[in-house]
Amino acid sequence: VRTRYPLSAILQMIERSPPQAFDTEMQSFFYLFTRYLSERARSQELNWDLIQSPSEDKIVPYSKLAPADASNLSKLAVLKVNGGLGTSMGMTGAKSALEVKNDMTFLDLTVRQIEHLNTTHRVDVPLILMTSFNTHEDTLRIIKKYANQQLRITTFNQSRYPRIYKETLLPCPRTADDDKKHWYPPGHGDLYNALMHSGVLDQLLAEGKEYLFVSNSDNLGAVVDEKILQHMIDSKSEFIMEVTDKTKADIKGGTLIDYEGQIRLLEVAQVPNEHIEDFKSVRKFKIFNTNNLWINLRALKRVMENEGMELDIIVNPKTTDDDQAVIQLETAAGAAIKHFNNAHGVNVPRSRFLPVKNCSDLLLIKSDIYSLEHGQLVINPNRMFETTPVIKLGDHFKKIQQFQKRFKKIPTIIELDHLTVTGDVYFGRNVTLRGTVIIVANEGQRIDIPDGCVLENRLLSGNLNM
Ligand code: UTP
Repeated sequence: VRTRYPLSAILQMIERSPPQAFDTEMQSFFYLFTRYLSERARSQELNWDLIQSPSEDKIVPYSKLAPADASNLSKLAVLKVNGGLGTSMGMTGAKSALEVKNDMTFLDLTVRQIEHLNTTHRVDVPLILMTSFNTHEDTLRIIKKYANQQLRITTFNQSRYPRIYKETLLPCPRTADDDKKHWYPPGHGDLYNALMHSGVLDQLLAEGKEYLFVSNSDNLGAVVDEKILQHMIDSKSEFIMEVTDKTKADIKGGTLIDYEGQIRLLEVAQVPNEHIEDFKSVRKFKIFNTNNLWINLRALKRVMENEGMELDIIVNPKTTDDDQAVIQLETAAGAAIKHFNNAHGVNVPRSRFLPVKNCSDLLLIKSDIYSLEHGQLVINPNRMFETTPVIKLGDHFKKIQQFQKRFKKIPTIIELDHLTVTGDVYFGRNVTLRGTVIIVANEGQRIDIPDGCVLENRLLSGNLNM
């Protein structure tokens, strides 16, 4: 009985709104919401005791892959999921529109990578961008400049679903055109519905494309890898997830599990509270999902048309501007793995997972540790150690605007091992940091690192004007 009212409120909204695309979208939402209610009623959680590590043959080491035949590339398309805002970095537009290296945005770098692939192998791999109502305009603004180039870029919009009040389960928006803040893009798992409903899936198949390489638009390491494509073809696998070895810092990423003989993605949001520590441990779950996914397009169409792409629901709790608890029902693209034949993981080198999740990542990417080759980041050969420095910027550097204000210029860090910065700190031009550098400005104090300063194995604290 409790559920009747919220459902009818959603149906009323559908009736009162413009037809077609919106209707289809709301029907998909309605389906997801109904599933959520019934799963909640049955308290359908994973049984922790049935979760096992995947067998060895389900995680193939990258080093074991055979050499590739580049002609397979003619059947490939590349897709970037690009609907997220980068809220953790305080962004309000598309994260992929952020300038990350040499004045180029994530999107510019992706374009360069694919242009290089196409010219090197004389192929025509198209780039497809999935945007959301939050990122569409920013994305179009950036790709406009490539309109007259050879690379074909297609964009399509993912769904826009209504947020739901946690207590009443009523939808936040009242009408189809109600304020943006009442809606959300329902995670990258929406990819499959959006590909199908936009007609892009059929268009790709009609062009003779058979494989799709999907990755996050903020993962600068996600370049096309011909060996993985070759392996996908040789192993007749309909879905491959690139995973990589977990370190203690990777506590958030989903992992592959064996659940009653089926390979599945396990996300932190699905883990019961009492097992969170287990989930984070490197011992039990050794690898995590990079979200670099290889999908057989014909198999995708089959799944969509027959069983449908039911994905595990991730309930994302949020708070509105006026302090009301709401939920967003989301799904993850990697969860689709359970629907495909011969699906498995390939354990790739860490270099294929190079995301910018916070401003510490951004500092590293922008620095002299990396240089660019055809849009791809490569470690500076002058770096003497194989590892990159560990960078921990404090809360004052959390938002992108703050980060930009606090570095007049990105310091030289080629010889840096470790940097910790806490408090109100500003960096001047041409600063060099070497070894281990720790800078702590206490509450109410400010530290200015002057132009041209060299800090080597130094601990600075207090109220310092050097
Ligand atoms: P994340 O969920 O990790 O988020 O998205 P994010 O964009 O890094 O930003 P935060 O958490 O808000 O700070 C991983 C990838 O999935 C895309 C994002 O654009 C990013 O490329 N994504 C996310 C979508 O395409 N649609 C969504 O609904 C959510």
